[in-house]
Amino acid sequence: MPLYKSYKIAHDTKLLVWKITESLEELSEGTVLKNVCEQRLMGMKSEQHRKGFMSVRKLLAEAGYSDLDLFYTEDGKPHLTDGKNISITHSYSFSAIIISNRSIGIDMEIRREKVIRIADKFVEKEFGYLDQDNTEDYVRRLIVIWGVKEALYKMFSRQGLSFKQNIDVDSFKMEDLKGTATVHFEEINSNLPFYFEEIEDFTLVYSIDNN
Ligand SMILES: CC(C)(COP(=O)(O)OP(=O)(O)OC[C@H]1O[C@@H](n2cnc3c(N)ncnc32)[C@H](O)[C@@H]1OP(=O)(O)O)[C@@H](O)C(=O)NCCC(=O)NCCS
Repeated sequence: MPLYKSYKIAHDTKLLVWKITESLEELSEGTVLKNVCEQRLMGMKSEQHRKGFMSVRKLLAEAGYSDLDLFYTEDGKPHLTDGKNISITHSYSFSAIIISNRSIGIDMEIRREKVIRIADKFVEKEFGYLDQDNTEDYVRRLIVIWGVKEALYKMFSRQGLSFKQNIDVDSFKMEDLKGTATVHFEEINSNLPFYFEEIEDFTLVYSIDNN
C-alpha cells in the first residue's frame, strides 16, 4: 500500500505516513537520489532499512519535495532547503514524516513486550505513575514514553541530552492521545505537547513546539 495517511495537523504542519508493502524496486521507481544518499543507501545492510529510506523519499514527493530538497547536518538531523523543519522516522513496515514551520519531532515504534526489559534505560520519573502489574497497559505506555523521548530528542538534537535525566513525560491517559513532557537540559527548559496514535502494531508519536 502506498500512502497510508496524510493530513494537516495545523495550518503550517503536515504529517504523512507510508505503509511499506512494495518491493525495493517499486519504491525506487521515479526517485532521483543525491550522490550522498545513493551512497548511504548502498551502504545499508538490511533490505528493510533500504525500504524505509526509499519510502521516506515517496513521502517527500507526496509533500511536494524531493531528495534534492533534503540535506543532513553532521548530527544526522534532516533539514529542508526551503527552511521548513522536517522530522523523519521509519520502523519495519511504516515510515512517517512531519513538516512544519515550527520545531517538530516524530517517532514510530513497534509495540513489543521486549520494551519492558529496556525500560530502565529511558524511564525515570515516569515509574512514579506507571502500573507495572497490567502488562498490556504497561507496554502501551512505555512505547508512548519511548516515542515521546525519541521525538523530542530529534526536535532538539543536542549531544548529551539524556532520555532518563533530561526528558520527563508527564502522567497521561491513553484515551487522550496526547500529553505533555518537559525537556530540561543546559539552557533548555521547555514544556511541550505530544500527540500519539496506535496504528496496527505500531505507535506513532510527534511533538510540535507551539512557542
Ligand atoms: C538518532 C535517533 C534519534 C534515531 O531514532 P530511531 O528511533 O533509532 O530511528 P527512526 O527511524 O525513528 O529515526 C531515524 C531518523 O531520525 C533522523 N535523525 C537522525 N539523527 C537525528 C538527530 N540528531 N536529530 C534529529 N533527527 C535525527 C534521521 O532523519 C533518521 O532517518 P534517515 O537518516 O533515514 O533520514 C536515535 O537513534 C538516537 O540517537 N537517540 C538518542 C540516543 C539515546 O539517548 N538513546 C537512548 C535509547 S534508550
